[in-house]
Amino acid sequence: MRKNIVAGNWKMNNTLQETKQLLNELMRQTKNTEAEVMVAPTFVNLESATQVLTGSGIEVIAQNMHFASHGAYTGEVSAAMLKEIAVNTVILGHSERRAYFNETDELLAKKVDAALANNLRVIFCFGEELSDRKANNEEPVVASQIANALFHLEASAWKSIVLAYEPVWAIGTGETATPNQAQDMHQFIRKTIENKYNSDVANSVSILYGGSVKPANAKEIFSKPDVDGGLIGGASLKAEDFFAIVNAF
Ligand code: 13P
Repeated sequence: MRKNIVAGNWKMNNTLQETKQLLNELMRQTKNTEAEVMVAPTFVNLESATQVLTGSGIEVIAQNMHFASHGAYTGEVSAAMLKEIAVNTVILGHSERRAYFNETDELLAKKVDAALANNLRVIFCFGEELSDRKANNEEPVVASQIANALFHLEASAWKSIVLAYEPVWAIGTGETATPNQAQDMHQFIRKTIENKYNSDVANSVSILYGGSVKPANAKEIFSKPDVDGGLIGGASLKAEDFFAIVNAF
């Protein structure tokens, strides 16, 4: 069956020294977790992070990548560059990338293809804005984000896809979707995938929730049947909080 995953998205936080310190604290606390645990440091610290975490069972993942294999794309990083330093999973489509760097569904479809072609697993993020939810429009928005970026894939490619539903209004705001709001949306997402593919694909894909997950609310959110874990921002920057969330499973 599908995996439980808790991934820390560090965003643009932590220098190299801070990265090493936090990872050492994490390693002391990771014991017999029920979930797969991942952390996403900034690009420049990925290689050091993989070295620190060797043998720990914690996976180091990237926050982004470019779709091209190489070339004149100043400031960008390719899938092959990630693979070479033993990074095997990449977050794509985070709402901050969509909002601040104009990443569109069409661009994200290309990034997904490049990641899969290089045997990277993708954590694909999407989610509605507050205005969408106020207009009761969250389901069509989410369905189109998924369809536009992922529905060209063959069913077999979905073994390398993890979904992360992150309502934009809940990211970094302290306002979490209620466990029922998360469950309702995750169930809708699974149904959407079943309608397009089949129940095997729908039931095998892990769907993470992201947006102000904290030690105090993780257990209730993760207890919902269609919530398979979390993508954690702010609370992943403190070892104690991150592991309280991991141990919520
Ligand atoms: P917060 O947990 O800080 O709300 O961030 C969520 C997020 O964006 C994870 O990718």
